[in-house]
Amino acid sequence: MAPRRPLIAGNWKMIASSRHGLALAAELAARAKGAGAMKCDMLLCPPATLIRQVSEAVAGSGLAVGGQDCHAAPGGAHTGDVSAVLLAEAGCSFVIVGHSERRRDHDETSEMVRDKAAAARAAGLTPIICVGESEAERDAGETLAVVRSQLEGSLPEDAAGADTAIAYEPVWAIGTARTPTGAEIAEVHGHIRHRLAAVMGEEAQRTRILYGGSVTSGNASEILATAEVDGVLVGTASLEADAFWRIGESCP
Ligand code: 13P
Repeated sequence: MAPRRPLIAGNWKMIASSRHGLALAAELAARAKGAGAMKCDMLLCPPATLIRQVSEAVAGSGLAVGGQDCHAAPGGAHTGDVSAVLLAEAGCSFVIVGHSERRRDHDETSEMVRDKAAAARAAGLTPIICVGESEAERDAGETLAVVRSQLEGSLPEDAAGADTAIAYEPVWAIGTARTPTGAEIAEVHGHIRHRLAAVMGEEAQRTRILYGGSVTSGNASEILATAEVDGVLVGTASLEADAFWRIGESCP
């Protein structure tokens, strides 16, 4: 089976201005076009209002675009929501689902996340399903149990291989400049791979498992060299073109 190609994903969250986002997309597109063959896939996940413009800005650069959330239904009376179908039409090939900020701010359950991931796959998008424990759960020794329960609850029944990605994002590591040790990351990623294999067999070898939480251009090489880490999901450092680009260059 072909080795998994690293995925470097930038989650812009609610970036403070469109101007910043469009300048970032233009700068990254210029770098990607000038860079030649890359060792990884790079993905930008802007807020919904910027997706089409960012897709146009990065066209032909090899950079991919993704959404930060989608509704589970393909259309209908859901004021304020965006479907996976609309994301695909606007230029997305990925969508983040079940980010801890959405589980927290919008009371999203794993069941809801599973339905969103299924909608994403039906629309031809690769869902990046996020899981991760809180600090209290880690302190209580519940990390693997929490991650397993979120993973198994959030994974669509027919998810297979490369058409789904997982992001392990410990809640306490997001935006805190704290990260788990390499051994801790390897343990959780190994557990995720093991659980994926129990559900989808051999195909689990093709699923990319990303790490997210305080990834910077300073720690990316070490994290990306960790066993079972197939990429990173980057928040703060993805808002600065140079920092994000250097994370991409850190791929083994
Ligand atoms: P930070 O990189 O800012 O810690 O955010 C991580 C994250 O939540 C990415 O989805």
